Amino acid sequence: MWLSRFLVLLSLFVFLALPCAQGWSKEGHVLTCQIAQELLNPEATEAVQDLLPESAGGNLSALCVWPDQIRLWSKYRWASPLHYANTPDTCSFLYKRDCHNTAGEADMCVVGAIRNFTTQLMTYTTQGFDSPYNLTEALLFLSHFVGDIHQPLHLGFASDEGGNTIELRWFRRKSNLHHVWDRDIILTALADYYDKDSALLLQELQRNLTHGIWSNNVPTWERCVIIKSCINKWAEESIDLACKWAYEGVEAGITLSEDYFDSRLPIVMERLAQGGVRLAMLLNRVFSQDAAQGFASST
Ligand SMILES: *[C@@H]1O[C@H](CO)[C@@H](O)[C@H](O)[C@H]1NC(C)=O
Ligand SMILES: *[C@@H]1O[C@H](CO)[C@@H](O)[C@H](O)[C@H]1NC(C)=O
Ligand SMILES: *[C@@H]1O[C@H](CO)[C@@H](O)[C@H](O)[C@H]1NC(C)=O
Ligand SMILES: *[C@@H]1O[C@H](CO)[C@@H](O)[C@H](O)[C@H]1NC(C)=O
Repeated sequence: MWLSRFLVLLSLFVFLALPCAQGWSKEGHVLTCQIAQELLNPEATEAVQDLLPESAGGNLSALCVWPDQIRLWSKYRWASPLHYANTPDTCSFLYKRDCHNTAGEADMCVVGAIRNFTTQLMTYTTQGFDSPYNLTEALLFLSHFVGDIHQPLHLGFASDEGGNTIELRWFRRKSNLHHVWDRDIILTALADYYDKDSALLLQELQRNLTHGIWSNNVPTWERCVIIKSCINKWAEESIDLACKWAYEGVEAGITLSEDYFDSRLPIVMERLAQGGVRLAMLLNRVFSQDAAQGFASST
């Protein structure tokens, strides 16, 4: 009896503790994937439709949170460290030094995971149904982790678990710095400016990409010659933003409110948009039949 009660309590605790360790909130991941989906070329659109399970109704965004949902399943425990990379307190990311899990196994971090699942997806055009990988899972993992690598605190310091151990208040509610960046900033923006309707926010992000503040930056965002270097660069951008904006002026126990929200919101929005643009870039090239458009297989 006491054991089952203990287990119920334990699972409740794990459940409650979980949001702290997830990537962008559900809202953030869905926005990034919706932006990407609109930017897919016909070949990539077809491949994505082909790989998505029936239940998704052709909508990639609906399944972009899947890697968070299965995170505690024992079958997928290996994938849990792939949502982030921990860096030392030096505001830099170095693949060799930082990309490993707690057991020290190389490549087991968000940067290695994006490499891994991009490489796996390349077998879709070369091997089709003979691919040795589950390409449905590869698509869902890749779509999720490209979102996560753009959340600055997913490249945060090991010493504070990417801001998870920095407890503070977000306006009047208890939170922690990691969660502020995963979710609180996005939810406050939705409540304050978009009538809690993420479709309105999506429209504005898309408008800013096509003919607004970011339209001139898109070609730079999606430029990518050597895929490994591109993914490293996205990680370096994140730890740089984490130092300049996320950690800046923050210490445990403080209350973050309007000033922090107003100054950090543009960064969060830009990272959601960049994640979407870059996910589309990867998928368009990975599924391209034209080898010149794709990535060289040696990368
Ligand atoms: C796709 O799924 C997302 C997340 O569940 C949802 O917000 C969106 O409305 C869906 N889009 C379509 C076209 O069904
Ligand atoms: C790559 O994916 C396979 C599953 O297909 C997994 O076993 C392996 O751990 C992954 N490695 C990384 C670095 O993501
Ligand atoms: C691939 O993964 C999906 C999602 O986990 C699963 O539903 C499907 O059965 C897997 N396919 C194969 C061939 O194992
Ligand atoms: C879109 O750009 C305008 C400036 O033109 C900015 O005020 C607004 O916050 C941006 N919206 C989003 C969602 O980034």
